[in-house]
Amino acid sequence: MPSRRAFMAATGAVALPVLINAPARADGRRLADPFTLGVASGDPTPGGVVLWTRLAVDPLALDGSGGMPDADVPVQWQVAADQSFRRVVREGTTQARAAAGHSVHVEVDGLAPGGEYFYRFRTGQDLSPVGRTVTAPRPGTRTRDLNLSFTSCSDWQTGYFTPYARMAEDAPDLIAFLGDYFYEYGPYASNVIRPVTGGECFTLADYRLRFALHRSDPDLQQAHAIAPWAPVYDDHDIENGWAGDIPEQPDPPFLPRRAAAFQAYWENMPLRRAQRPTGPDMTLYRTIRWGAVANLHMLDTHLYRDLYACTGKPGMIPADCAERLDPKRTMLGADQEAWLDSRLRTSGATWDLLGQQVFFMQMDWKNGDAVEFSNEGWDGYAATRTKVTDAIANYRRNGVVLTGDVHSHWAGEVKRDFGDPDSESVAVELVTTSVTSARDGLDKYPNTDILLAENPHVKFFNGRRGYVRTRVTAEAMHVDFRSLKYVSTPGAPAYTSGSYVIEAGSPHLKEA
Ligand SMILES: [Fe+2]
Repeated sequence: MPSRRAFMAATGAVALPVLINAPARADGRRLADPFTLGVASGDPTPGGVVLWTRLAVDPLALDGSGGMPDADVPVQWQVAADQSFRRVVREGTTQARAAAGHSVHVEVDGLAPGGEYFYRFRTGQDLSPVGRTVTAPRPGTRTRDLNLSFTSCSDWQTGYFTPYARMAEDAPDLIAFLGDYFYEYGPYASNVIRPVTGGECFTLADYRLRFALHRSDPDLQQAHAIAPWAPVYDDHDIENGWAGDIPEQPDPPFLPRRAAAFQAYWENMPLRRAQRPTGPDMTLYRTIRWGAVANLHMLDTHLYRDLYACTGKPGMIPADCAERLDPKRTMLGADQEAWLDSRLRTSGATWDLLGQQVFFMQMDWKNGDAVEFSNEGWDGYAATRTKVTDAIANYRRNGVVLTGDVHSHWAGEVKRDFGDPDSESVAVELVTTSVTSARDGLDKYPNTDILLAENPHVKFFNGRRGYVRTRVTAEAMHVDFRSLKYVSTPGAPAYTSGSYVIEAGSPHLKEA
């Protein structure tokens, strides 16, 4: 089996140059390539994975159709043990359905657990680029450690997607994407690095076009083609600052807009049928199991949450906002809370990783004596946070919360009781920065040292763009915060701005 580096070297970018005999139309012109949006895989199981592509001959067609006819198109798929497809192990035919935006989702099984595979699609005479994927190890085994990378927040207009390319160069086993895959906004008034195609997303056509714009990016295509993803949405995948059934903007009506966004999300992500939305409803929370090494619980912190405490809209609230402590308020909803508790109680893995969107630790964001919390993060839903930390502590889990949303790297320790400075740490939180949101950034801001001093359980900050790279084993979780100094022009190298080790059995961050 080729090494990961050899695969990257051989492919360079995503596309292997294996397109055969370009097909011709009656007028002699070559038909357009239908695989302009690349390939992806996701949600691995022991010996299984979802394979994804979406056909689009004109990806930026303003009607969101990708230039495809209003008809279903048969698509063949292949999975091989080698990247030259001499050893094909599974193959079949499916339909790229017009009603699903000509997306293809193949739930492959029967592969070897903990195996590395290559896959591709064909329609007519066109072959897709080749993707690499990895299946989860057999339950209860440690045959494969977990190389997990995660990131969040890629805003087309504020930069180049170089962090995706750098993440792909590591060829991890799994990529968790923690929300804000795009921003729903129309063109920004100023400081635009890359102009967006289309206006603010309201309709299914709008969201399909926004996804297609992002998937036309070669750096993002590379990140999808190198490893399976486990994605969740945050707010901007639908609308800024939504909570349950409550939008930020009352117009247009929110539930049809949410239904359109969910439909496009499912179409464009390598998700299983179990995540397929029904109108404005979608069950996105789920667990990716990695043998006895780790369970990755992907949470939905938007669809079931109560409205933002004390102000009704996302923002800062004073410490005396009593509503944020109301035990009746929920971040996850009763069903997801019960599900997570059950998953933690019955987990047999060394690590329980919570992939989710918003800041979990308590965080005083206000310099000086005054205390201000964000009501968008778990500080606004403290009762639900206590249920989760109690479950982690009571069930003796090695809990690590993986977070996005805030456009900067942070790491800290989750206290059993944030009201007590001597309280024990029960888990660790790793917060990834953004791919491009917040633009080039700085390693450190003028208020950074004050924030860290006023929140002593928080140990690390970096304000550049990037991603987090981890290696999860039976003994420890090794963490590298990867940073890039610029995304305003292409090609930045990545550097490690912080390195930590979390040892199993000890919920503390140790500098590596
Ligand atoms: Fe964001």
